Amino acid sequence: HAHLLGIEGLKPWEIGFLLSEAEHWVELSRSAHKRDERLASLTQINAFFENSTRTLLSFEIAGKRLGADVVNMSVQSSSMKKGETLLDTALTLNAMHPDVIVIRHDASGAVALIASKVDCPVLNAGDGRHEHPTQALLDALTIRRRKGRIEGLKVAICGDILHSRVARSNFHLLAALGAEVRAVAPPTLMPAGIERFGVTAFTDMDAGLEGADVIMMLRLQRERMAGAYLPSEREYFHFYGLTAKRLATAGDNVLVMHPGPMNRGVEIESQVADDIARSAITEQVEMGVAVRMACLDVLTRARRGVADWEARV
Ligand code: CP
Repeated sequence: HAHLLGIEGLKPWEIGFLLSEAEHWVELSRSAHKRDERLASLTQINAFFENSTRTLLSFEIAGKRLGADVVNMSVQSSSMKKGETLLDTALTLNAMHPDVIVIRHDASGAVALIASKVDCPVLNAGDGRHEHPTQALLDALTIRRRKGRIEGLKVAICGDILHSRVARSNFHLLAALGAEVRAVAPPTLMPAGIERFGVTAFTDMDAGLEGADVIMMLRLQRERMAGAYLPSEREYFHFYGLTAKRLATAGDNVLVMHPGPMNRGVEIESQVADDIARSAITEQVEMGVAVRMACLDVLTRARRGVADWEARV
């Protein structure tokens, strides 16, 4: 089956194809009739083993707008609480003949493991610190619509890069589409060997933001920092918070992005988050539905008997 486990390994034309498909779903989602029946009679299971607002809700809305029967597995009330393993849970879901499974898990690689055990396409909705491919796709769609292109843009990704699957997926995608990517983080939150992603590392925020066309802010992922050095929020905001003053060093038409959830006053000043001219944060959420519709449609084409997307080139 064609799965979407990460951006790594996708070819630029595959990324471009998913983004073009998503454009169509932006239009449908803005219309009064938000419905297309192409996934009618298909069953979509969303299995989120980690909290989510945006990703879970947008995958549910995306499936429903395409006519699928969407079921959300509630992990809190599932039998995993009684000791059932992840693999047994996967086999249980598989026995119900789903046509697509969307999974979020706190362990890197868990989604790929489940994908290897089931008989339908699996979409990664975020696994540990590994990848969050639909987030990178929705970010790219937002940038492309606002800036008209991705190639050649200077994109600064700032904050807790060490723990961020969003940063990793964006590094792969932006490199594939030819952006100039900077990683801005304190030394303690900068992964070793980050140059292998083709990005330039900055530990000084002002230097990293200079001339940037796009700034993506990341949340401090305290839940993944067991025992590690954790800066005080005040100290962190002082050195790495995106303030209106700091934004002045970036390009005149800089686009401010954040995948959410935001911690106002920690990594981003409220005034910047709410600046409707420069902030694309709510637009990112809107693009999330469209991108997920595109991914659900494209990945289920083979089982619907529609020409596989790879047949298009
Ligand atoms: N951006 C993102 O993944 O948000 P959620 O954790 O709310 O899904």
